[in-house]
Amino acid sequence: MSAARSDPLLFFVNGKKVEERNADPETMLLSYLRDKLRLTGTKYGCGGGGCGACTVMVSRYQPRTKTILHFAATACLVPICQLHGAAVTTVEGIGNTKTRLHPVQERIAKANGSQCGFCTPGMVMSMYTLLRNKPWPSMEDIKEALAGNLCRCTGYRPIIDGYRTFCQEANCCQLNGNCGVNRESIPNGEEHNGSQDEPQLFDQGEFQPLDPTQELIFPPELILMAERKSPPETLSFCGERMSLLCPGSVEELLELKTKHPEAPLLMGNTHLGPSIKFKGVVHTLMISAFRVQELFEVRHTPEGVWVGAGCSLSELLSLLQKLISESPPEQSELFRALTKQLQNLGSQQVRNMASLGGHIMSAYPNSDLNPVLAAGNCKISVDSGSGRRELPLNQDFFVSFGKTLVKLEEIVLSVFIPFTTKGELVSALRHAPRKEAAFSTVTCAVRVLFSEGSSVVRDISVYYGGVGATTVKAEKTCQALLNKEWSEPILSQVYDTLLDELVLPPSAPGGKVQFRRVLTLTLFFKFYLEILHKLKHMGWISCEVPDKLLPLPSDIQPSVQHFQSVSNAQSSSDAVGRPIMHKAALSHATGEAVYCDDLPPVQGELYLALVTSSRAYAKIKQLDVSAALQMPGVVDVITAKDIPGKKVRTDFGHDEDLLAQTQVVCVGQMVCAVVADTKAHAKRGAAAVRVQYEDLPDPIFTIEEAIERSSYYEPRRSFERGNVAEALKSVDHVYEGGIYMGGQEHFYMETQSTLVVPVGEEREFHLYVSTQWPTSTQEAVAQTLSIPSNRVVCHVKRVGGAFGGKITKTAILTSITAVAAWKTNQAVRCVLERGDDMLITGGRHPTLGKYKVGFMNDGRIVAVDLEYYANAGCTADESPLIAEKMVLLMDNIYNFPHMRGFAGACRTNLPSNTSFRGFGVPQCLLVVENMVNDVAMKVGMPVDKVREVNMYRGPSITHYKMEFNPENLHLCWDECKRRCEYDARCRAVEQFNKENQWKKRGVAIVPIKYGIGFSEGFLNQGSALVHIYKDGSVLVAHGGTEMGQGVHTKMQQVASRELHIPISKIYINETSTGTVPNTCPSAASFGTDANGMAVKEACQILYQRLKPIMQKNPEGSWESWVNKAFFDKISLSATGFSRGPDSYVNWETMEGRPYSYFTYGVCFCEVELDCLTGDYRTLKTDLVMDIGRSINPCVDIGQIEGAFMQGLGLYTMEELKYSLSGLLYTRGPSQYKIPAVCDMPLSFNVYLLPNSENPNAIYSSKGIGEPGVFLGSAAFFAIKDAVSAARSDSGLSGPFSFDSPATPERACLATASKFTQKIPASKPGSFKPWALDI
Ligand SMILES: Cc1cc2nc3c(=O)[nH]c(=O)nc-3n(C[C@H](O)[C@H](O)[C@H](O)COP(=O)(O)OP(=O)(O)OC[C@H]3O[C@@H](n4cnc5c(N)ncnc54)[C@H](O)[C@@H]3O)c2cc1C
Ligand code: FES
Ligand code: FES
Repeated sequence: MSAARSDPLLFFVNGKKVEERNADPETMLLSYLRDKLRLTGTKYGCGGGGCGACTVMVSRYQPRTKTILHFAATACLVPICQLHGAAVTTVEGIGNTKTRLHPVQERIAKANGSQCGFCTPGMVMSMYTLLRNKPWPSMEDIKEALAGNLCRCTGYRPIIDGYRTFCQEANCCQLNGNCGVNRESIPNGEEHNGSQDEPQLFDQGEFQPLDPTQELIFPPELILMAERKSPPETLSFCGERMSLLCPGSVEELLELKTKHPEAPLLMGNTHLGPSIKFKGVVHTLMISAFRVQELFEVRHTPEGVWVGAGCSLSELLSLLQKLISESPPEQSELFRALTKQLQNLGSQQVRNMASLGGHIMSAYPNSDLNPVLAAGNCKISVDSGSGRRELPLNQDFFVSFGKTLVKLEEIVLSVFIPFTTKGELVSALRHAPRKEAAFSTVTCAVRVLFSEGSSVVRDISVYYGGVGATTVKAEKTCQALLNKEWSEPILSQVYDTLLDELVLPPSAPGGKVQFRRVLTLTLFFKFYLEILHKLKHMGWISCEVPDKLLPLPSDIQPSVQHFQSVSNAQSSSDAVGRPIMHKAALSHATGEAVYCDDLPPVQGELYLALVTSSRAYAKIKQLDVSAALQMPGVVDVITAKDIPGKKVRTDFGHDEDLLAQTQVVCVGQMVCAVVADTKAHAKRGAAAVRVQYEDLPDPIFTIEEAIERSSYYEPRRSFERGNVAEALKSVDHVYEGGIYMGGQEHFYMETQSTLVVPVGEEREFHLYVSTQWPTSTQEAVAQTLSIPSNRVVCHVKRVGGAFGGKITKTAILTSITAVAAWKTNQAVRCVLERGDDMLITGGRHPTLGKYKVGFMNDGRIVAVDLEYYANAGCTADESPLIAEKMVLLMDNIYNFPHMRGFAGACRTNLPSNTSFRGFGVPQCLLVVENMVNDVAMKVGMPVDKVREVNMYRGPSITHYKMEFNPENLHLCWDECKRRCEYDARCRAVEQFNKENQWKKRGVAIVPIKYGIGFSEGFLNQGSALVHIYKDGSVLVAHGGTEMGQGVHTKMQQVASRELHIPISKIYINETSTGTVPNTCPSAASFGTDANGMAVKEACQILYQRLKPIMQKNPEGSWESWVNKAFFDKISLSATGFSRGPDSYVNWETMEGRPYSYFTYGVCFCEVELDCLTGDYRTLKTDLVMDIGRSINPCVDIGQIEGAFMQGLGLYTMEELKYSLSGLLYTRGPSQYKIPAVCDMPLSFNVYLLPNSENPNAIYSSKGIGEPGVFLGSAAFFAIKDAVSAARSDSGLSGPFSFDSPATPERACLATASKFTQKIPASKPGSFKPWALDI
């Protein structure tokens, strides 16, 4: 049933009235802004509310209170029809580079808080909304506001530092050196950049003050509209597939619901939206209650408070906080428990949109609120039009997954939350894979009523979430506790009953079964202690109680960035070496920066959506596209048969099908593509394609299976120095061990995007692509279409993050899109949805490392035998090269006299893995350092000493016979130890661990030697083209793509030095194969080296041409010299070229010079681990890097911090989960957790090694893009150290198995505590696991 007519929709965007006569209820604000209003500053990152890239501010007038409510919302989940009467502010509405920048935009840019800039508008809008509500926020407010905004580039430190300047307490700290931030929790509170002599990355004095009077006012027309007294009528909106009715009163609402009981009630859309979008649920009719005042009312009674079911979770939070401040503490126990859960539920954007009623009715098994509401004896009032009834929120209410006792025709009107009484204590806890903005793994609430003045339990409710299909009550446990004394003896019985009644089968959906069962016990133990302390505080018990379990520290400290300033003798116009902000930072912050999908549509443009395989290994029996072709808007379906040229892409000697032809080799392989007039039509068309498969036997998924069946891509590589077998005979000890390391999703914030435009003449094509390698994309399209490369121009304006993931895969995607453009003769755009991007494009290789190591009692490692097996997936891609790099860099910084290494890329039936920042080194070195760690544990020496004993010293030679001098490595090592006060930290940690049973600290110091450049010499070349125009402005083009790493900024600096002009005269507008041909990928940390030399050469040629003119007229200006040169007929355009180093490896003779030079770094981390939950916090990170003479410390420090955080994610939290049939489960930010603000080290300091020279790269600099990733492993080893301390409390010592990532699950289970020992892991093979260990 659908509504017959559409009412006009009226709302405001950035102060301008928008009247939409044909509003489609399925249209979300994000696509409306981007496609209809062409406000492309608001970005698409995930479409499910999980990344914050689409954050906008929504403002509503509230007639009851006559106030205006401003809140941040994720535009991807806001249906436009719900905006009737609201005002929306986007990043474009607050400032721009043409008129006036908003301080929020200025500060993030100037503090270097943007790299690729794709997350920046979302960050800006979260912060802007906070300041609209609170012009002087606290650091807590800032962290909370940004908790739901993900950034994959920066590591958050510069964003926090930039926005800290809005915070009064931090400002007083920065100015007076005495901040209110609690430094006690942080070891060695390092003095932050306050000294006048230290060079600074940005100058806070430059910032404009915040002036709230300058903000856009709320449209008076909307106030009048809201105040209108006439009874509001039901509005209806009718779309292509769905209608929406928006009643104005509760009576109308109930009437509609009676008439259409199946129609869901649309509130915050944070549950319905994702289910429609990701699960393909279709509702032909929905009813929205956003205009029904009664659902937003709050009614106070002597027993408690009735909260309207429509109130957002943020409104509920504010209400509860107010009640807590106004009520006696004993009455507000439940309010406090709810508040605690609410503060950690989702992000602020989600809490602002999600309603209380919607939350209860979504009935998530791991809901954070439902266990507390149930334990707290809350109830709801429901109405179906034929009468109201009240329902208690107890165990009977939650019927099954997503189902409750509320009938289809009923509406939840309000929720009753009672006051607690004297002796009634309530507590709630949750554990999630990430501290903030993450669904809980297990959540729990307890309410206990004690007999007056005693610790005897009179009544108790214990509820859990995440341990079954619904919120469940631990009924038997409650019974067992009744009339018992709240003291230690009850615990063992509680644990037994909990385990008995909360049964999770080993194959339970969601996995982590052993961990979840441990959490049911440890969370209860936490309650036990918390309640004990409350009883003690109340004076109801007098006995000694164990120490309080304090939460992990969370105060982010001001940080240190230490770098060398340029010499005073350097010309002021010479920009090299200066901390210059990313040249596009202001455009990032204002939303003016143009990414691929921001390009306006070309006339008649079509959209392409992919059909992917649902089978891991199967023959395609039939491909039926007939239904898809009948779908509205569908223009064509592209299959392999339509490819006019080469049907495969060949990279590094290996072929990969563009579209599957006869068989599929992984779930997610591209089978065909549907082209339609809109994105929605293309997607619906793709869903209508039917593929019939015949499964082929024995797909291979895991590394073990691949080893067993000898399934590899060739070549496999091995290398030996000395004689390992012999050496192993003469050592004091031989130890065999290993470590498994999970893969990693690139999670660039901008998904794969491409636009192919046929010119319509001579088979010419223009490609606009988000790629790291325009030449490869150009070449791939030319081969696919069987046309010469000179007909194809690939343009890259900027890339919204890439990290290696936009090299090979982008070329394939663009080739498919080009076939569609070729066939239809129309422009075709393809922008992958986040889920498809994660499914299709692969990531970092999961790797198994094994080692046999021979060593002496003094820690000297004499012989090492290493084996690496990388899960490459279903095509070779760059995997054999990645395996090669593992063998080349396996020595790290160690001079192992005898060393043998093998690396193989395993062929499996998973999506094909590809290049990822570090190119195998993060896997390779984790194995090496884990081995060194094991050796230290074996010989009982501190691991730093074992590292020192084995380091290269003096002029050295690698196993492939490359000479180098490790002196700077030692300088980094010593400097890092000095900066972090290593010995003192170790002592303090030891002391802490003695004093704490359930919390442990751990430290680690980890070094890296990273080879810079491509080992295939031909990839090291760089080219540039520089034009000087008659007005003196300079346009530089070079082969590097700007993807956040600041290569364009650095190239402008190079040109500035060589042309002797300020950087402001120099511009780079894009990378294009039409201006600079035959380029190499921007990768291997070599972009600046290769292209910098080329730009330098081109500029030098031009400068030499101008020199005679300058000499004749030394007083002239740059402009006058340029002008004269033109009239003298001197060419003002030049190319530059750099052949780069002739790197090579001879695998026969086992020698070579695969790298140009080495970048060194050392990182110290200290973590605190909550052994009961495995949660941890990085307290301190000190990172010392030798990057030669930095061309731009802002950019370089940004790269170091960003890479470190990506490494921290890799080694401690990011987990890819595959089903038993090879389907990736983790296809969005809700399931796959990358680090967020809450994961930033609390003290995060970066020091660039001073006085370092590098004769092998431009201006003595060094490449820095990748090395920092491995340094994130310092957090991994620090967690392992803390786990080790916990294990020694359980009487365990020596090496233990601990794989990466060190998730809370792994850390908690590895502690071998009395809780974990109660729940032995189910025997592999005795059950079907939920996910594969790939
Ligand atoms: C990115 C993200 C992160 C999240 N993180 C967390 C988290 O950490 N912890 C957690 O517990 N939850 C989390 N959630 C879930 C979130 O709390 C729920 O989606 C939300 O509360 C649902 O409310 P809503 O108003 O958006 O419901 P909607 O999506 O509008 O509706 C949901 C369902 O409730 C029904 N409904 C709504 N209101 C009523 C009513 N008054 N009467 C009868 N039926 C009604 C609808 O018919 C529909 O079936 C997250 C969600 C997202 C998108
Ligand atoms: S795109 Fe909206 S939150 Fe990610
Ligand atoms: S700058 Fe944040 S995602 Fe790139």
